[in-house]
Amino acid sequence: KKKLLIATGGGDCPGLNAVIRGIYKRAKKTKEWEVYGSMEAFNGVWFEPFRIIKLNRSKVAGIHVRGGTILKTTNKADPLHYPVKDDKGNIVFEDRTKELAEMIKRHGFDAVISIGGDGSQKISKALFDHGVPIVGVPKTIDNDLEATDMTFGFQTAVQIATDSFDKLVTTAESHHRVMIMEVMGRDAGWIAIHTAIAGGAEICLIPEIPYQIEKLVERIESRYEKGRGFVNIVIAEGARPLGGAVTASKGEEGSRHIKLGGVAFELSHQLKAAGVKAEIRETILGHVQRGGIPTAFDRVLASLLGVKSFEMVLQGEFGKMASFKNNEFVAVPLEEATKGNKTINPESFIVKGAKGLGISFGD
Ligand code: F6P
Repeated sequence: KKKLLIATGGGDCPGLNAVIRGIYKRAKKTKEWEVYGSMEAFNGVWFEPFRIIKLNRSKVAGIHVRGGTILKTTNKADPLHYPVKDDKGNIVFEDRTKELAEMIKRHGFDAVISIGGDGSQKISKALFDHGVPIVGVPKTIDNDLEATDMTFGFQTAVQIATDSFDKLVTTAESHHRVMIMEVMGRDAGWIAIHTAIAGGAEICLIPEIPYQIEKLVERIESRYEKGRGFVNIVIAEGARPLGGAVTASKGEEGSRHIKLGGVAFELSHQLKAAGVKAEIRETILGHVQRGGIPTAFDRVLASLLGVKSFEMVLQGEFGKMASFKNNEFVAVPLEEATKGNKTINPESFIVKGAKGLGISFGD
């Protein structure tokens, strides 16, 4: 029988298990393929003791309903930026994708499906260039991947953020408070803008539109003057004031990952310093946005991407990523998928539409 390897890389995301199940189910129908999983991204096939599991019916039964990934995942040990110490003891990053490609071949896999975000797709591209027959599946709650209209996990994150927003509204109005809710999204404001529209926020701050604090103060004061004495703000973790830098703290040692977060508190200080008298409270949603049960839409999207990616394997469409585009499931070249991050165009209708609903971006 032929051997297929699946790996899930980068941050976890609701829907990953639905992809794994989708691949397994479609592969089983051929009766010619065995499906294996590498634990913790490609670490399972790369480092000894190897951790490769053979998937079977009982391992995948019902997993489409569960968040996370049965194959586990990691942000570390990125083969494109493998951390090593130089002569002076400083950490530098090396490209080790050739070494990983050789390991995958040595294990005897006939094809690989790698499920991941921007970083994972770049790794897939490099492995393909080193001769690995690989197909990518896009994944991220941030929805910031090029070459696909929507990523699974995004809808679930927006639903969780909206549910939290709704809860903050009732407490904001009871106390006449300004509530700041910080959501994830890295350098893109997709989760923030969708949540602000769904929840009916007064203010939405996103990385793509630097905000001016005076504009926010004006908006807040006018709400209080009009007797609508509460304000709900959604701020994306990558948002920043005009002329201000993103205040990101460094990742753990040996990781290139930059941690964002905490901008809710910065905004709170800025508003107080600019004279806002109302009480302000901050909520950072954090990883709850990535947890729990995927929404029905995300389960459907993820399951179909699983099936599509395996059909790409059958057709030998390697070096490509399964993608959801214009309501169709298609194969796109990995070059297209890795050429940059998809952020919000400030001139696009989603921003104009949000402004039409009375949401201020502080611009
Ligand atoms: O890319 C998904 C994401 O959840 C981002 O929205 C966030 O900035 C980051 O990952 C958090 O990463 P970690 O799980 O490593 O803290």
